[in-house]
Amino acid sequence: MNQDELKKAAALAALAEIEEGSIVGVGTGSTVNHFIDGLAGMRDRIRGAVSSSEASSRRLADHGIPLVTLDDIDHIPVYVDGADEIDHGFCMIKGGGGALTREKIVAAVARRFVCICDASKLVDTLGRFPLPVEVIPMARAQVMRELTAFGGTPKLREGFVTDNGNLIIDVHGLAIDDPKGLETRLNQIVGIVTNGLFAHRGADVLLLARADGVTRLA
Ligand code: 5RP
Repeated sequence: MNQDELKKAAALAALAEIEEGSIVGVGTGSTVNHFIDGLAGMRDRIRGAVSSSEASSRRLADHGIPLVTLDDIDHIPVYVDGADEIDHGFCMIKGGGGALTREKIVAAVARRFVCICDASKLVDTLGRFPLPVEVIPMARAQVMRELTAFGGTPKLREGFVTDNGNLIIDVHGLAIDDPKGLETRLNQIVGIVTNGLFAHRGADVLLLARADGVTRLA
């Protein structure tokens, strides 16, 4: 199986996590695209979806799945999303697709975060994947100076603007042995909207696809 086939296997396994008649939280990315395509097959058994990006919203709408906003509801039973890296404590790096802020917001409203990944995403220590941070444009230079002081190498994601009209800076070379501590400290930098560490609100369930099948870890 190639990586995309593994992503699809993890994504389709997540359909079993969805509660009948519920609103589903939907993440962003190529793994989630498989989930959305699968969700279309059970769209009559859910009330709708809260989406974490314009791209996922378009795909959901194309499948005729009703979109709901967070103004309409006060919780979501299950949020399904991928990750760029996930460790054994279910802390994640997210934001490779640049949707980290809305993903973090929707995840915060969810009772359960179901992470769908191919096995290459499971790591002992987060940080080989550059950590994305979403930044208010006028703060770019100052935030880059602050991030350098953390020991990483910040690089602007060229030509990319988030759904919220902001920039993404990818921080290379961080060995993240304290994900919660780093998430907290990055949250203190003025000008950063969101950092891509999902440690305080990590995943509750990991559906991990390997060539011999999908394992449910919780
Ligand atoms: C988007 C994300 C994605 O979940 C992450 O980048 C994984 O993407 P993919 O499923 O395409 O490998 O955080 O902002």
